[in-house]
Amino acid sequence: MKVLVVGSGGREHALAWKLAQSPKVQVVYVAPGNGGTALDKRLQNVPLTDPEVLAAFVEREGVAFTVVGPEAPLAAGIVDVFRARGLRIFGPTRAAAQLESSKDFAKAFMHRHGIPTAYYKTFASAADAHAYIDAQGAPIVIKADGLAAGKGVVVAMTLEEAHGAVDMMLADNKLGDAGARVVIEEFLEGEEASFIVMVDGKNVLALATSQDHKRLLDADAGPNTGGMGAYSPAPVVTPALHARALREIILPTVRGMEKDGIPFTGFLYAGLMIDPEGNLKTLEFNCRMGDPETQPIMARLKTDLVDVMEAAVDGKLDQIELDWDRRTALGVVMAAFDYPENPRRGDAITGIPAETDDAVTFHAGTTLQDGTLRTSGGRVLCVVGLADTVKAAQKNAYAAVEQIRFDGMQFRTDIGYRAIKR
Ligand code: AMP
Ligand code: GLY
Repeated sequence: MKVLVVGSGGREHALAWKLAQSPKVQVVYVAPGNGGTALDKRLQNVPLTDPEVLAAFVEREGVAFTVVGPEAPLAAGIVDVFRARGLRIFGPTRAAAQLESSKDFAKAFMHRHGIPTAYYKTFASAADAHAYIDAQGAPIVIKADGLAAGKGVVVAMTLEEAHGAVDMMLADNKLGDAGARVVIEEFLEGEEASFIVMVDGKNVLALATSQDHKRLLDADAGPNTGGMGAYSPAPVVTPALHARALREIILPTVRGMEKDGIPFTGFLYAGLMIDPEGNLKTLEFNCRMGDPETQPIMARLKTDLVDVMEAAVDGKLDQIELDWDRRTALGVVMAAFDYPENPRRGDAITGIPAETDDAVTFHAGTTLQDGTLRTSGGRVLCVVGLADTVKAAQKNAYAAVEQIRFDGMQFRTDIGYRAIKR
């Protein structure tokens, strides 16, 4: 069978890599893909992004089903376009994707359905937002309502930063429409974890637990990024916490969406904040898998992903049980020069080791130009190591990282430190 993965990042490479391992699969198309998906003989890049054009391609090629990686095509309605043509696709509709594409929608939804989250208010007027910040004090968190490619959240430790964020979004319009409204919310403290499940409209299937590192520099210092590394499982998510996250956040969300007339299908990712007493709050929803969380998660999945996806598309997730490699998988992101500010493109990449049973490299911002692999985005690679302990998985990942070279490469040297401390 032929299947299609939409997207071009490390998450999509990992999904395509896993789908290609299925004996049922003849080819995995990746649209548009990257240098790594171009190099893998079982995968085939397709230079298309427009949903209607992709749907026509799927019809022409007889693609059995499509999996969507990133939020942008979901928020633009790719699932609606495919479904209208009777094509099988896994992801949320445009309306359901608002859980990620509008912070105000997500907060109002959580409020309405009693799902724990930080206290908040939404503003379109800069003057009102400034007055609210003065009344609340710092620290406080300012979030652009819309999708802003990771630039829409300012965790302000001072009033000055908070006012600056409001001016940037509401007065100076730096984020365009995405920042035309802002959500201002209470600052939460604790440890974050990513809780990712698959939803088929009714049934929920939890994936293995994971945790990522959002800050650029070691010891979680420096600016926020899309994620500099991730590992699975995440020991912070104990079995008790896992059950609470399902009961208090995921199930009420799935039921709430159904009740509101916009049933959720697709990957649902709740960013959790776990306070020192072990209580949970929802930081955010994503309507897709995490990147880089997907890379270690896929590295551990033993079940045939084709079976899982077909069950998901057909509303039969209750018939699937996932089988995981018991080892820890730990992924280190190698980023381009000047990421996240202004990542440089075009640097030649060498030394990526061949895949082994305990290390695999997924590509993100790479492109293959006349046989040379070059950087083409902020996060360039995610190098995943597998082993029986977090420490040994870390060692395997960094052993592979050490072999890879490109000018200006940046990576953290401490991915997994929280899990090792436990
Ligand atoms: P979000 O895109 O909403 O998850 O925000 C990005 C990052 O900002 C999160 O992963 C947290 O590290 C941080 N953050 C978001 N909301 C809060 C909050 N209410 N309190 C503290 N940190 C937050
Ligand atoms: N790693 C965080 C995200 O995918 O949103």
